Amino acid sequence: MDRESLSSRLGFILLSAGCAIGLGNVWRFPFITGAYGGAAFVLIYLAFLILMGLPIMVMEFSVGRASQKSAGKSMDVLEPPGTSWHLYKWAALIGCTTLMMFYTTVSGWICNYFVKMLKGDFVGLTPDQIGAAFGGMVSDPTQQIIYMVLMTLIGFGICYFGVEKGVERVTKPMMICLFFLIFALAMRSCTLDGSLEGLRYYLLPDFDRLFKAGIGEVIFAAMGQAFFTLSLGVGALAIFGSYIGKDRSLTGEAIWVIVLDTFIALMAGLIIFPACSAFGINQAAGPVLLFITLPNVFTAMGNGQFWGALFFLFMLFAALSTIIAVFENIIAICIDMFNMQRNNAIRILAPLLIVLSLPCVFGFNIWSGFQPMGAGSCVLDLEDFIVSNNILPLGSLLYLLFCTQKKGWGWDKFIKEANDGKGLLFPEGTKAYLTYILPLLILAIYVQGYISIFFK
Ligand code: PHE
Repeated sequence: MDRESLSSRLGFILLSAGCAIGLGNVWRFPFITGAYGGAAFVLIYLAFLILMGLPIMVMEFSVGRASQKSAGKSMDVLEPPGTSWHLYKWAALIGCTTLMMFYTTVSGWICNYFVKMLKGDFVGLTPDQIGAAFGGMVSDPTQQIIYMVLMTLIGFGICYFGVEKGVERVTKPMMICLFFLIFALAMRSCTLDGSLEGLRYYLLPDFDRLFKAGIGEVIFAAMGQAFFTLSLGVGALAIFGSYIGKDRSLTGEAIWVIVLDTFIALMAGLIIFPACSAFGINQAAGPVLLFITLPNVFTAMGNGQFWGALFFLFMLFAALSTIIAVFENIIAICIDMFNMQRNNAIRILAPLLIVLSLPCVFGFNIWSGFQPMGAGSCVLDLEDFIVSNNILPLGSLLYLLFCTQKKGWGWDKFIKEANDGKGLLFPEGTKAYLTYILPLLILAIYVQGYISIFFK
């Protein structure tokens, strides 16, 4: 059977952007930024995107395109004989699966809130009642399971139709809608009375807030966020590299993806912070920012039911496009590793992922006594920590070493692949930096991050 491919360049860029743009942009980025000092944090984060994110993204695309395989087989094809790089496939499979074990639950919350907004469930509620509504949702396993299962089935249902007829056909229009929605929402938010204060909180660097959290922890968080938002380290972008031809060089494509991803994250901040300040609501609320803070904003605002539904629809598109992309990667890995057919892989993976997502749901109710990351934490925090702070940076480090070390795929082959086709060339002057400095930097930040979290 011929390997499947994407129909167009736009499809490739929007799919990769769809994979990158997700909860990381609209849920994680705003609350982390709020907690770590607004623009001061954003500056560090932007530096990471360029210094680490860009080269590693080009590497993932290159490995995918050169091997024409998913992360389940790409290293087997490219590694020098006798080496063990191919063991990475397990990290990719486990990383993507662990990510989805909480991603489907949080996406389910978003879908649930979209429905609630549409029905007008929040109209006339007081802030206390809105907070209680969130508590009510997470303490009810049945409600969460229904939405988690729905998200999982929609994701696998779309992948069932294949790369071009399923994944590309659904994600492309969804991403285009998302760009329109975010414009409308940001305009609305920034023109509210009293929005200026929030803009200031978001856009003026506050080094006090940054130092209060501890600079080591902030840098670790910025690096984690950069890898997370760009979907690096688990082959989730490499898979789309494997579905394209050689007509464009890969650096320009990676820049497009990073620009779109960063644009959406910054715009999400432009929606959330001005709206919070306009209605006097705490912007440093943490993970519950979206689910408690924002419904409060919408109930206080004219036509709030409409704007609220639109906002959660936008979030739903962002989350779904990521679920579809990561499911596609998991399916392709299983096809390559276990010689399965697509439909058979889906028949096994869909129920498996539903079962694996249950601990995250139970972590908020029947297993809430299990607090693996310190008082008040839950299963979701543990899963997020395993993926965002471990598998993503270490997986990215592996791609980096694979593309720069002689005992791996090697610099020359990487550069040749990255530069094959029309468009921007990868700057070869970065060789020493990428070979010797960046790996150490990632390791140093990684170790230091552990120290700052566990030995505070
Ligand atoms: N980038 C995705 C987001 O921002 C999350 C993700 C991480 C997806 C790693 C795939 C791999 O939501």
